[in-house]
Amino acid sequence: MTFFRIALLISLMTLGFGSPVIAEDLSDPAICMDCHDDADRAPPSDPTRPQVHNPEGGFFVESHADFACTDCHTYITNLEHDMLEGDPQVDCLECHDEVPTKE
Ligand code: HEC
Ligand code: HEC
Ligand code: HEC
Repeated sequence: MTFFRIALLISLMTLGFGSPVIAEDLSDPAICMDCHDDADRAPPSDPTRPQVHNPEGGFFVESHADFACTDCHTYITNLEHDMLEGDPQVDCLECHDEVPTKE
């Protein structure tokens, strides 16, 4: 093994495999807002479910604003998430007894 390869391996071990242990604290919505505008939110892919984000900004249900973005988007665990696998959805049952439906 060349010196370069060993150095690369060590840096991968410290940077790559070490980081999940010290997980980033993403609970401050301001961190998310650096990149995500509050407006122009697309409706949910399931048309029977009420939309949570208001496309004009904020939330349709006031209490939802009391939570961190990551309380709902639990699958966002780091800031390199621009290529999410599949189509991860927010699980309403984390907080609700039943999935709320449209009136
Ligand atoms: C450095 C910029 C950046 C930051 C900071 C950031 N994101 Fe993202 N996020 C992106 C990009 C780029 C995408 C992929 C393009 C898109 O869908 O907007 C994305 C995608 C997403 C998606 C999927 C969107 C979809 O269409 O399904 C969610 C949900 C999300 N981010 C939530 C968050 C949350 C929660 C935070 C704060 C913890 C956050 N992001 C912080 C850049 C960022
Ligand atoms: C109460 C739960 C909840 C909270 C809190 C929440 N979201 Fe969402 N988010 C959802 C749901 C559900 C969707 C799917 C579309 C919808 O129903 O509005 C979504 C969709 C998204 C999307 C993709 C859709 C789009 O067009 O942009 C992004 C990006 C996103 N949220 C970012 C955020 C950020 C940033 C925060 C914090 C400021 C946040 N969310 C807080 C539940 C939540
Ligand atoms: C992180 C916790 C959390 C998640 C996840 C969450 N909610 Fe809520 N939601 C709340 C709280 C708290 C209230 C206020 C409950 C009350 O006042 O009794 C609420 C209220 C609501 C209401 C108002 C009517 C009612 O049932 O009280 C709707 C509609 C709603 N949520 C839709 C959704 C949908 C749809 C999802 C999933 C896409 C979702 N929520 C996910 C916390 C959450």
